[in-house]
Amino acid sequence: MKPTSAPRTYRVKSFGCQMNVYDGERMAEMLGERGITPAPEGEEADLVVLNTCHIRERAAEKVYSDIGRLVKAGTKAGKTPLIAVAGCVAQAEGDEIMARAPAVSMVVGPQAYHRLPAMIDRAVQGERNTDTDMPAIAKFAALPERRRSAPAAFLTVQEGCDKFCTYCVVPYTRGAEISRPYADLTLEARKLVDAGAREITLLGQNVSAWSGEDERGHKVGLAGLIRALAQVDGLARIRYTTSHPADMDDDLIAAHGEIDKLMPYLHLPVQSGSDRVLKAMNRSHSADSYLRLLERFRAARPDLALSGDFIVGFPGETEAEFAETLALVDAVGYAQAYSFKYSSRPGTPAATMADQVGMEVMDERLQRLQAAINRDQHAFNRASEGRDCEVLVERKGKLPGQWLGKSPWLQSVWFEGECAIGDLVRVHLAEAGPNSLRGLVRETVAA
Ligand code: 5AD
Ligand code: SF4
Repeated sequence: MKPTSAPRTYRVKSFGCQMNVYDGERMAEMLGERGITPAPEGEEADLVVLNTCHIRERAAEKVYSDIGRLVKAGTKAGKTPLIAVAGCVAQAEGDEIMARAPAVSMVVGPQAYHRLPAMIDRAVQGERNTDTDMPAIAKFAALPERRRSAPAAFLTVQEGCDKFCTYCVVPYTRGAEISRPYADLTLEARKLVDAGAREITLLGQNVSAWSGEDERGHKVGLAGLIRALAQVDGLARIRYTTSHPADMDDDLIAAHGEIDKLMPYLHLPVQSGSDRVLKAMNRSHSADSYLRLLERFRAARPDLALSGDFIVGFPGETEAEFAETLALVDAVGYAQAYSFKYSSRPGTPAATMADQVGMEVMDERLQRLQAAINRDQHAFNRASEGRDCEVLVERKGKLPGQWLGKSPWLQSVWFEGECAIGDLVRVHLAEAGPNSLRGLVRETVAA
């Protein structure tokens, strides 16, 4: 590659999960420290980071088409940006990207992005470089301090997964489970609050497996970490995602009943309602044990809003097995849920299983499942009508004087009134739609 001038502007484009959003924010902060600024709206950036997701569908193909678009726009403008491919596609297919896309000068895996600045220096010299090492969470120590935060912030506490569900690439792209140290997390949480955060969502591919040692050297789990963060002045709300049913311990269930700052919302993926399919997925729980677990959470926190993930069309899934998934949805009454068509991931055990389900069947099952989920979501929203609750104001609405925020149950609430982003406002939930609620302001609540 030809040497080029040092980039002055950047754009980070994150795909996929919230962990990627967090990584994207941290990369942006790092570039900011180097004096590189976000490219103004509508302008091409000197440096583009494609922070990719590999979990479903033709994610890699999307990356190649994005690269193609950047090259085309760059040729027209007379200057192609420096392109870095980051995230899980970089980890899984880094060498292939380098071979197939000569416009890419950097490939950086999720555990290596703290080395991005040095890679940019080399790229400016015309050198293409790849870093997909997986050192144990070295990156966090190497990142700059948190200086600015949105009211609702993310904090990655755990990375990687040891569960090896047979359809999933995460154990291969993000590696083994690693927990960030307790002291680092309590410090980063305080910094986030100083920087403007009122709500923190603790993130991990398998966040309920987080473990660490508190300041007295006692072993603590996620509930212990949540209890510590609840002591942080100025922090009003705590959430966590994503969990696996196998790691939900008594202490975490109890925390939902005891800690006011822990929001009444639980995202607990189940994937299927059929025990035969769950076994083939290597999920280590049954439909019944999942339902019983939810009952214990609901006993601790009766107004808990439930969310889940589902896969339809896992290899060999029959109509009767799919019907068991619909029955589970009926039994739970989710406040919201995510559902996906099974997507074969190279290198995973399920990719070579017999009886892959056809696309038409998957499409049709997904539609039926989503109709059931939407029905329950609307019902949940309607059941909230008439309630008063706090809303954390996250952004302006479409019309002047309109604001958008989240209820404790993670519903989108919009309302009109005098307030500012980051305020906690007491709102009467007046009218429910399928995806959001209209609120009437009662009062702004102090920190
Ligand atoms: N195909 C479809 N969905 C998948 N998920 C993970 N891997 C796959 C796959 N190969 C879904 C699961 C998981 C969510 C993050 O993505 O439901 O909980
Ligand atoms: Fe993937 Fe989640 Fe299963 Fe881990 S627990 S293998 S991240 S689906």
